This record gives sequence, C-alpha cells and structure tokens, in this order.
Amino acid sequence: MIVTHDVAGVRVVTLDNPPVNVLSFALCAELLPIIETASADAQVRAIVFTGAHEIFSGGADVNDFNSDPTPEMKTIRDVIAAMERSEKTLVAAIDGNALGGAFELALACDYRIATKRSHLAFPEIGLGLLPGAGGTQRLPRIVDVQAALQLMLKATRLTAADALANGILDEVVDGEIVEAGVALATREAGTKRRLSERRAMLRKGVSLAALPFVVSQAHKLVPPEENGGYAAHKLIDAVEAAVALPFKYGLARECRLFDELVRSKPSMALRHVFFAERELTKIPGLSEIQPQEVAKAGVIGGGTMGTGIAIAFADAGIPVTVVEPVDEQVERAKQTIFGMYAHQVQRGRLDQAEAWKRGQSIAFTQEYADLADCDLVVEAVFESMDVKREVFSKLDAVVKRSGILASNTSTLDIDEIASATTRAPQVLGMHFFAPANIMKLLEIVRGKQTSMQTLATAFAAGKKMRKVCVLSGNAFGFIGNRMLFDYAREAVFLAEEGVPPYRVDAVLKSFGFPMGPFAMFDLSGIDVAWHIAHARPGVMTGRTKIVDRLYEMKRFGQKTGAGYYTYDKSIGSGREPIRDESVEALFAQEAKRAGIAQRANVSDEEILQRCLYALVNAGAMLLEEGIALRAGDEDIVYIYGYGFPPYHGGPMWYADEVGVKNVYETILRFRKELGPHWEPSKLLSGKGALAHA
Ligand code: NAI
Repeated sequence: MIVTHDVAGVRVVTLDNPPVNVLSFALCAELLPIIETASADAQVRAIVFTGAHEIFSGGADVNDFNSDPTPEMKTIRDVIAAMERSEKTLVAAIDGNALGGAFELALACDYRIATKRSHLAFPEIGLGLLPGAGGTQRLPRIVDVQAALQLMLKATRLTAADALANGILDEVVDGEIVEAGVALATREAGTKRRLSERRAMLRKGVSLAALPFVVSQAHKLVPPEENGGYAAHKLIDAVEAAVALPFKYGLARECRLFDELVRSKPSMALRHVFFAERELTKIPGLSEIQPQEVAKAGVIGGGTMGTGIAIAFADAGIPVTVVEPVDEQVERAKQTIFGMYAHQVQRGRLDQAEAWKRGQSIAFTQEYADLADCDLVVEAVFESMDVKREVFSKLDAVVKRSGILASNTSTLDIDEIASATTRAPQVLGMHFFAPANIMKLLEIVRGKQTSMQTLATAFAAGKKMRKVCVLSGNAFGFIGNRMLFDYAREAVFLAEEGVPPYRVDAVLKSFGFPMGPFAMFDLSGIDVAWHIAHARPGVMTGRTKIVDRLYEMKRFGQKTGAGYYTYDKSIGSGREPIRDESVEALFAQEAKRAGIAQRANVSDEEILQRCLYALVNAGAMLLEEGIALRAGDEDIVYIYGYGFPPYHGGPMWYADEVGVKNVYETILRFRKELGPHWEPSKLLSGKGALAHA
C-alpha cells in the first residue's frame, strides 16, 4: 500500500508494504499513477518519498524476477521513468535501509537525505544480477566509475556517514526524517538535479582516455564468467556504458544485460539459495513457540571447537563460561581469543573497548558448578561417547532445570547422549563448523525427545550468533557429513582406480569448489579420518588400506607437511598442495593388494559425476529418511559448510539442472559398473524435481 499526504505544497509518498516495503510489481503499479498525478498537479511543488516500518525499502521483490509483469503490473523501471519525466523537485527521505531498487529510486530523486542509522547498498550481485533500474548508469554519475564498480561488485553496505562523504546523500539528519524531507523540499522546490544530465567520470585526476584500462582491470579482478563471475562481467559492461554512451543508450544496455542475467543459470541458482535460506526456519510447529531467553551460556572443552564457540557467544553479546580442566589448553584458548580480537582491532573491524568487553565476557573455570545458572551449555569435548555421557550426567546434576544442554558432536548419537541425563527433552545437537566463530553454518540436531521449546531456543540463539541454522534429524553424520562421507568415498575410490589425487581435485576445483577433496582431507587431517574410519568401518576410507598407510607414515596432512600431497614451508604460506607421485604409487600398490583393477582414460566427466552424484544420492536418501526437511536445506548445508559453489545452487539444485532422470540413469550405470554402493535413492526414480519448485 502507498500512503500520501500533503504538507504545504509538498506531497509525501510513504511506501507501506510490510515487512520491508518491497517495490513489487503490484506496489509499483500503485506508485506509478501517484507520481504521475502529483507531477501534473499545479498545487504540488515537490514530492518526498519515504518508507514506513523503520525501513525505506528492501528493493525489488525477488519473487518477481521469475516472471514478466502482466500489463496491469509495473516495474521499478516504469516508476523511475515517471520520476525522470517529472518536473517536480523529488526528495528521497531515507530512514533505515534503502537497498537495490530502492537505492535506484533514491538516485532518481533530486535530493537524498537519511537518518544516521540508515544504510544504502546494491546487493544484486549476490543474486547474480546487476542493478537494473538505472543504478549502473546513475551511480557512476554521482561517485566516480571506480567507486561505483567497487560498491556494486562488492555489494558494500554504505552507512549514512559514508554515503554523505562520497556525495550520494545531501544531508544526514538527526531527527524526524519526513519533517526534514519536507523542509528540504520546501527550501529547494523548483530545483531539478537529474543525475542523467551529468556525465559519468573516472576518479579525480584520471582522464577519460583511461576508461579501457580501468574496465579491463575490473574484468581481471572478478572471477571468470563460468566460475561465479557471470554477473560481475555484465555489471562492468553496464558501468562502462555509463561513460561510453549517452544516458539513454546506457540505460538500454543495462536493461538488456539485466534481462540476460535474470534468465541465467547462475542467477536462478543464487535466487534458489536466497529463498532456501529463508525457508530454513519454516519447521512445522516451531513458529508458535516462544524461545527461552539465553542470557548466559556455558561451553565444555576449551579446544579448537570450544574456543570458537565461546567467541561466537561473546560476539553475540552472550557472556559465556568455559569449563576446561587442562591448564595448558586454557592458556592456548586465551591466546587464541586474544589474538583473534587483536586482529579484529588491527583490521579496524572492532574498536578496542568493544574487543575488550567481548574478551572479558569469556570466563574459564574447572568447576562444572560455575555453570549452574546457564541457560544453554554447548559441549565440545573429545569425540567419545563415554566422555560425553559423563559430561552430560555432570551437567544434568548442576545446571538449573530450565537449562538446555547441547552437544557439538560430529558423529555420535544424540539420543544416547541425552539418556545420560534426566532432561532428554532439553538435550539436542548443535553442530558448529570449524572455525566456529567464523563459519556460518550450524546444524541443529533434533533427538527423539527434544522438545519444540528446546529447538526454538537453539534456533534463536543460533540466529543471535548470526549462524545459518539448519534442522537435521539424529543420524550418523547428520546432513553435511553424511553427504561428505559419500563424496569422500568416491574421491578415494577414483584414486584407487588409478586417477591421481591432483586430477580429482582439479576437476572439482574447476567446477567451483575452493579446494578438491584430497586437499580438504589434508587440511582436516588424515589422523582425524583414520579415527573416524576405525570407529566406523567404511567411512572416510576406500577399499584399500591407504588411510592406514598414510597414518603409519605420520602423513597427517598439512599440519605434518605431508598427506595426500606434500607441503613446503619455503613456498608461500606453505599450504600449497604439491603433487606427490609416491602417494600415487602407494595407491597403485594398495589397489593391487586389494585386487582393484587400474583403469586408464577415466574422463573428467566421470570424476565430476561420481563425486557430485554421490552427494546427490546421499541427499536424496536423507530426504527419504526424513533426516533433512527439504532439498533446499541440504543445498544450504553444502554451500555454507563445505564450499559448494553457490552459483550452482547446491547439490540438489544442480541435480535438477542436470535432470534427475539423467542422474538416476547414470547412477544405475555406476551400480552396474562400479558396485552395489551405488544403490540409488528411491526419490531419484520418481519424475519430480528435487529442489526446483
Ligand atoms: P579438541 O581436542 O581440540 O578439544 C577438546 C577439549 O575438551 C580439550 O581441550 C580437552 O581438554 C577438553 N575436555 C576433554 N574432556 C573434558 C571434560 N570432561 N570436561 C571438560 N573439558 C574436557 O577437540 P575439538 O576438535 O574441539 O572437538 C570437540 C568436539 O567437537 C568433538 O565432539 C568433535 O567431533 C566436534 N567437532 C569438531 C570439529 C572440528 O573441525 N574439529 C567440527 C565440528 C565438531
């Protein structure tokens, strides 16, 4: 809905489309005649645009990108064209966020003012798009081309102060925004300052003749088109047009480029990710539940994970007490915490006082009794059922009755852990990813008896910690690791068949993963894989004794300078994986011993299909078993936790793109050629899509 009122010849137009005043096709259809009427009204001297609900507007409705507007619907482009035609003085009075299309609307005004707390940004690139309603043409006409590229390619969130400093805003106001907007409109009524009438410029002191150089540099700095840079290159083309072409033609080019992007596979995949993320909390019965307040947290174990989790609580403003019995570990944890906050201060991300406050909110103790008044305790001790059960029974005895007890276990049974307590409804898994203060993903694991209240509280606490929370059932490996194990299995099987590890990695890296599976094993540690393999035969290992052999040779991966690859400290960061032919020979030797034939000519396509379809098949089984709620949830897990390239939408979205039928038929062929571990999920034999609506 749009609300208008007049104040002494100034028409105030308020966008009121809760929750974030999106400029949907429907809202634009309403807005357009309001602008045209005001523009034709001799009594109106100026128009002030503002937003209700403490936000200017979140921009276009992402749902609208999937369809073309019907004749009775209008787009932001239509609205802005009408603004451009208007001879009235136009003022954007911004309080809260002005994002994407809303920022473009503001740029089509003659004046822009905002309250201190406001932010402006072009987030389109994150959806594989470019600002398509004049943003790429107007922004380089107010800031320079280099700055405009930077802001749009990085989707920078500008504070009001920043936007004032670079000339995007004319004023930052303290008080009431509409009043200030009306005052400015009254003062400046009659003035027009169309950006379209200005020229786009390069940075001060740089001649326009340097445009080709600036543009080619920009193209070099973004990823290649096929590897996540599809929209970025088009965005650069659009900004180039802002300088090279008259406004009208530049706008036409932007429009064409946007229309190409909106239909492109990467953008469709990224929009899927956007929606999948918003679906995550849609869990039957959850929305009616009021979460418990988490005012104080506890962590058991000050190791790698415990320390990261404690920092995540502190960053969320929740004071936390860590129980760690080993003095040395406490010292190490304190150093990690200190080092991390010092780094943040150094980089200008935190001020000294805030860093100090957060550091001080993490306390260490050896006494479980100090956790008595905790609302939520996360356990991160060694991965052993006996140790965990002992910890949970101690916690059960000391933590107040309303307190929730969570385990960060990666592989153990939450129900068995819960049975060591007298409060199973208040026990669940909260599976963080390393480093826990940085990685966004949090799997929230529901045990058989976990109550909705407990789940709701874990989701609320996770949100406060700015995590992307995904619900998982209580099954070995939960969602992410279960999928990972099958993917890892295929990678090792390929190497056992004679494909060198570096080739497997190269294929997956060129698909878009930040690293291939073997580099990942080396990073997480062959010793860790060995322990898992011994606790659970068949997991994290192949059909040979390769993992045992590497373990015996103390080739634990990056940390020991050798694993599937070797590492050389004298080369750069020392993390560069270097091909090691002795490992390939070891694979051949072990394969021979296990009677596995060596195959020549395994194609890149087969490598990719075996690794990715293993993910898809595991994902489909998890859906079948009800461990994961939706295919989209699995896509989010794999993107945020394991580096699946978001522009492919996640494994399940990717399967839809390839065609579920094709995936199924390939898996049947694999079963015939490679063995019964390629039993396809029943879900794949159906005709339906997995993640596509
Ligand atoms: P870690 O070995 O670095 O830390 C464990 C810490 O717990 C040690 O400092 C130890 O002194 C302490 N501890 C042991 N028994 C204790 C007790 N009874 N009371 C209090 N403290 C005790 O191990 P890490 O890597 O932090 O793993 C912890 C848990 O997190 C495991 O369950 C693991 O599976 C899980 N996890 C690990 C991930 C990783 O990437 N390292 C990722 C996700 C989960």
